Amino acid sequence: MRRYSIQTKIVLPFLLLFILVSIFVPLITIELFAWKYSEQFTRETQGWLNVIMQTGIIHEEIEKLKEAYSVEIMVFGKDYTLNASTLTTLSQTEHNRTYLVDKLHLNHIKQKLDSTGETPVTKDVTLGGKLYKVFYRMIPLGRLYCLLRPMDDIAEARRTLTLYMLGLAILVIALVALISHRIGKNLTDPIKDLVVFTEQVAEGDLDNLCEIKAQDEIGDLTIAFNQMTQELKQSRDKLIQAERLGTAGKMSASFAHEIRNPLSSMRMLSQMLLQKPELSVEQRQSIQYILDEIERIDTIVKGLMDFARPVTLNLEKQPLAPTLESVLTFMEANLTHHQIELILDFSPDLPDFQFDSDKLKQAFMNIVLNSMEAMPNGGTITISTFLQENKVCIMLVDTGIGISGEDIEHIFAPFFTRKNKGTGLGLANVKRVIEEHGGTVNIESTLGEGTTVLLLLPLRI
Ligand SMILES: Nc1ncnc2c1ncn2[C@@H]1O[C@H](COP(=O)(O)OP(=O)(O)OP(=O)(O)O)[C@@H](O)[C@H]1O
Ligand SMILES: [Mg+2]
Repeated sequence: MRRYSIQTKIVLPFLLLFILVSIFVPLITIELFAWKYSEQFTRETQGWLNVIMQTGIIHEEIEKLKEAYSVEIMVFGKDYTLNASTLTTLSQTEHNRTYLVDKLHLNHIKQKLDSTGETPVTKDVTLGGKLYKVFYRMIPLGRLYCLLRPMDDIAEARRTLTLYMLGLAILVIALVALISHRIGKNLTDPIKDLVVFTEQVAEGDLDNLCEIKAQDEIGDLTIAFNQMTQELKQSRDKLIQAERLGTAGKMSASFAHEIRNPLSSMRMLSQMLLQKPELSVEQRQSIQYILDEIERIDTIVKGLMDFARPVTLNLEKQPLAPTLESVLTFMEANLTHHQIELILDFSPDLPDFQFDSDKLKQAFMNIVLNSMEAMPNGGTITISTFLQENKVCIMLVDTGIGISGEDIEHIFAPFFTRKNKGTGLGLANVKRVIEEHGGTVNIESTLGEGTTVLLLLPLRI
């Protein structure tokens, strides 16, 4: 079945109706006027004929009558011979008696006039190439008096009027077609956009939003669709992240077990070696270096094991500030060493709420560590806490190296790191802990200027 666009379905019926109306209404109007005018015309000519009959100037002065009334007159004898005529334009054939009798319906008219007496009888007849309305009267001696009133002008006027009306109708129809096309287009364009957009979404492209072109129901539909797409994107991202975390977790668990045992043996053997007095200073330094590296590997492995373990929260209602302060106190020496100035702005109005202090400490430490590592030549870390729409906000702003637009897409992915000695599990853990609390982590950054980390936790009292 042929598929019509919405635009066609809306515009076409109205346009067809309009075409019918704008053609038939003028035509009917013209017909009505013509009919009314014809009545008037007949009445007027009958009047003239009556006057002619009463004044007795029947055919003697027909030329004068022709002048006075702009009509033609023909008088036929009893045997239909043409007694008199003002018509000069008749052709040879038209002069023929039988032709005229037939053309002017004289037999029929005579019978009618005989039976109806004075009742006016008229006929439309073309003679000499012109159209006439013929008015008949019986006159003495069985003769027939015909008054021919030209109709050409009227017919011409009617034709011209019809043409004008049709021309005007076509013009108006074209205008209406143009306007309705535009209206239809305005109406259907946003729908078309939405259709294209839904196709894109169906193909899995959730990164774009549909442009809202109309401030009406279609606009509302577009807004709703955009919201749905965003939610779809968030769910998909969460799913991907969960999938990644799941895989990372499983991998980490098996790696950690494999690595930790030989690592302990290596540590023990190195420490025993270090006890030997016969070692030279260089050898001692090398073994110490091995021990340091073993410690580093162990830290990484521990991190992996932590990551592999599912987060189980130990929620307790408590104030937030002491948890954050304990992390900062623990890191104070390190921060001072890195020439980092701390600016704290903790809201005093923050109520106690439920959270897992140890897990939050871990997450917060990861963030502060990242900021510290991002400022190798010192800088400032500003930490503020405040309440916003029933959510506890912890905001950390640093003046570090910042994160590129490309990297920021991946910073929460497990094992993503730009550091030589990083595991890339720091932020993945932060996100896991905060989301387990029902909160969100948002990081904005400008390369070369600094980074802002915003932790939002639900105010569970
Ligand atoms: N405050 C920050 N300033 C600049 N870059 C940052 C900041 N925080 C995170 N990053 C970037 O995000 C990456 C991932 O951070 P994440 O904490 O997950 O891992 P990491 O710090 O590299 O490793 P680890 O936390 O195990 O030491 C970092 O390597 C760094 O490039
Ligand atoms: Mg880190």
